[in-house]
Amino acid sequence: MHDVAAEKVEGAAPAEFPVPAGCYAQNVVSVRHYTDRLFSFRITRPQSFRFRSGEFVMIGLPNAAKPVFRAYSVASPAWDDELEFYSIKVPDGPLTRHLQKIRPGDTVLMRQKSTGTLVLDALTPAKRLWMIATGTGVAPFASLIRDPETYDKFEEVVLANTCRDVAELAYGNELVAALKDDPLIGEFAAGRLRYVAATTREASPLMGRITARIADGSLFAGLGLAPFDPTVDRVMICGSMEMLKDVKALVEAAGLEEGSVAEPGQFVVERAFVG
Ligand SMILES: Cc1cc2nc3c(=O)[nH]c(=O)nc-3n(C[C@H](O)[C@H](O)[C@H](O)COP(=O)(O)OP(=O)(O)OC[C@H]3O[C@@H](n4cnc5c(N)ncnc54)[C@H](O)[C@@H]3O)c2cc1C
Ligand SMILES: NC(=O)c1ccc[n+]([C@@H]2O[C@H](COP(=O)([O-])OP(=O)(O)OC[C@H]3O[C@@H](n4cnc5c(N)ncnc54)[C@H](OP(=O)(O)O)[C@@H]3O)[C@@H](O)[C@H]2O)c1
Repeated sequence: MHDVAAEKVEGAAPAEFPVPAGCYAQNVVSVRHYTDRLFSFRITRPQSFRFRSGEFVMIGLPNAAKPVFRAYSVASPAWDDELEFYSIKVPDGPLTRHLQKIRPGDTVLMRQKSTGTLVLDALTPAKRLWMIATGTGVAPFASLIRDPETYDKFEEVVLANTCRDVAELAYGNELVAALKDDPLIGEFAAGRLRYVAATTREASPLMGRITARIADGSLFAGLGLAPFDPTVDRVMICGSMEMLKDVKALVEAAGLEEGSVAEPGQFVVERAFVG
C-alpha cells in the first residue's frame, strides 16, 4: 500500500509552515510565461494521486499557516507523470500575485481530491465532441485532447478556443501543434482533432465571440459541419459565468440536455473562474 503521509514530505515546504492536512507538497518542475497575464507550470505528481482528465484540484502555496487555495483545472492528461496547470496572473489576486513568481524547485501545495464535470464519463456516447473554451477555460481541454480515451469515445473532436488577443491563444496553439508529433497521442488525434482559434479584441484570421459564431452558423460552416445535433454532438463548455450562461442557452436551443457525473447527458459546463 502507498504511504500518503510519507509522500507529503516530497518537495517539502519551508519548515515554518507545515504542510496542511490532506495536502500534497510538490516541486515545481518548469514554468513558462506567455503574456503578462498568463503562464503555465508543471509540478511533480504524487504517486498516489489519481484524477480523471478534465478535473480540477485545489492549489496553494506554503506561504502562510492557513494558505489560500484556489481551484485549478489539471491541464495535463491522466496518464502524465507530471501535473501541468495553466494560470491567470491577477495583479492583486490573493493566490496568483504570489503564484506567478514560482520557479523550478519551489513548492506548490495541492489538496488530495480532484473533482469536476468536464469528464468523458459525464457525457453519453455520440460521434463528435465539441470543447468550447474562452480564456483560461482551455485548461481542462488541454488535458482531454491529450487523453487517448477521448479518441476512443469520440470519432471527431473540435476544440474552439477564443481569447481577447492573439498572444492569449499561444498556450492552446502550441499545445495543438505539439500533438502532431506526440509519440503517444499524435496517432489518435491525427485527422480527428480540429482546432478553431479566434480572437475578439485584436485582429486575427478568425474573429468574433463563440456565441456569435454559433448563432450565425459560421462556426459550423467554417468546419463544413452541420449545427449542433443531439444525435451527433456532445459539448463541453468552460469559461466565465456569462460565457457559460450564453453558450449553454445556445446549446440548449439546439436540443441538447445538460449532464453531470451522476447523470450523464449531452453537454456539461464548468466555470473557468468566479466573478
Ligand atoms: C472550477 C474552477 C477551475 C478553475 N481553473 C482555473 C485554471 O485552470 N486556471 C486559472 O488560471 N484559473 C482557474 N480558476 C480560477 C482560480 O480558482 C482563481 O480564481 C485564480 O487562480 C485567481 O486566484 P487569485 O486568488 O489570485 O484571485 P481571485 O480572488 O480568485 O480572483 C480575483 C478576480 O480575478 C479574476 N479571475 C480569476 N481567475 C481568473 C481566470 N482564470 N481568468 C480570468 N480572470 C480570472 C476574476 O475577476 C476574479 O474575481 C478556476 C476556478 C474554478 C471555479
Ligand atoms: N491587461 C489586463 O489587465 C487585462 C486584459 C484582459 C482581461 N483582463 C481582466 O481579466 C478578466 C478576465 O478576462 P479574460 O480575457 O481572461 O476572460 P473574458 O473576459 O471571459 O474573455 C475571454 C474571451 O471570452 C469572450 N467572452 C466574454 N464573455 C462572453 C460571453 N458572454 N459569451 C461569449 N464569449 C464571451 C471574450 O470576448 P470579448 O472580448 O468580446 O469580451 C474573450 O474573447 C476580466 O475581468 C478582465 O477585465 C485584464
